[in-house]
Amino acid sequence: MFGIAQGALGVQSYEELALFGSSFSACGLIRKYSFHTNDEQTMREYTGIIERTVRLNEHYQHLHLSVEGLGSDLKPGQSFLARRMPERWEPYLREQWWPVDLKTDEVVIERPANILYEPGETVSLLGIIGQPYRYKRTLRNVLLIAYDTPPSPLVMSIPLLFKHHVSVTMVLSGAATQYPTNRLPPELEVIQADDDLGWTNMVMTVGWADQVFVVVRPDDEMERFERVWKRFSELRAGIDKNYLFAVMQTALPCGVGACLACLTPLREGEMCVVCTQGPAIDMTALPFSS
Ligand code: FES
Repeated sequence: MFGIAQGALGVQSYEELALFGSSFSACGLIRKYSFHTNDEQTMREYTGIIERTVRLNEHYQHLHLSVEGLGSDLKPGQSFLARRMPERWEPYLREQWWPVDLKTDEVVIERPANILYEPGETVSLLGIIGQPYRYKRTLRNVLLIAYDTPPSPLVMSIPLLFKHHVSVTMVLSGAATQYPTNRLPPELEVIQADDDLGWTNMVMTVGWADQVFVVVRPDDEMERFERVWKRFSELRAGIDKNYLFAVMQTALPCGVGACLACLTPLREGEMCVVCTQGPAIDMTALPFSS
């Protein structure tokens, strides 16, 4: 168990760390814990200026944006809906931009290297989108999995977990193996898995983890999450609540819970509004066939 400080890791209270009891809801715990949702979080438009771009390798770059008034509210799991200015309609929808680092009035965003961004360019950022990742009160080991997609939605959590003496292992599979891990904290264990999300000592890694956060390629998220679910079901006797989380990258047209385009069905007829209650959904609540 680690002695996590109140307010750390995106956690606003000890109640939030301990909220995985009988009232657990897989999708943002919205009913009982509505004070933690974006309903009371001010959604606003920020203006970001690209101060510099840093190429990590041929696949990834970092945009360092100065963002006035952002403060330190942004937590791992949260994101922005971005549109480059002057306004352009390609792509038509705002893009979900995942921060990987936050400093005073500066945020670092991870983007594909094949898109040209110029220093001095202005970006409209709508946010903050979504809920911070929620961690168990007792947490020693966290497993992060990027399955054929960039691990960017998970990266910001790594230094914070280390800061609180939590061990972190990251598994990269498929396209994720192109990720430049040399820039990540040296204490991070990185496992290069095969394209079908297999790796040696898988049983041990899965058994050792207290919590697991998974991103998959968004072209068919639910099918890929189900594949992960089945793989974990084969490796463990059972999957408890609050263990295995799907980090959704569903398209978010509005980001504020208004259009309902991101509604995701859960078991027993419940629905999750991913933009305000996600991105992390407990996989035990997802309607997989087994
Ligand atoms: S994106 Fe509109 S409700 Fe979620």
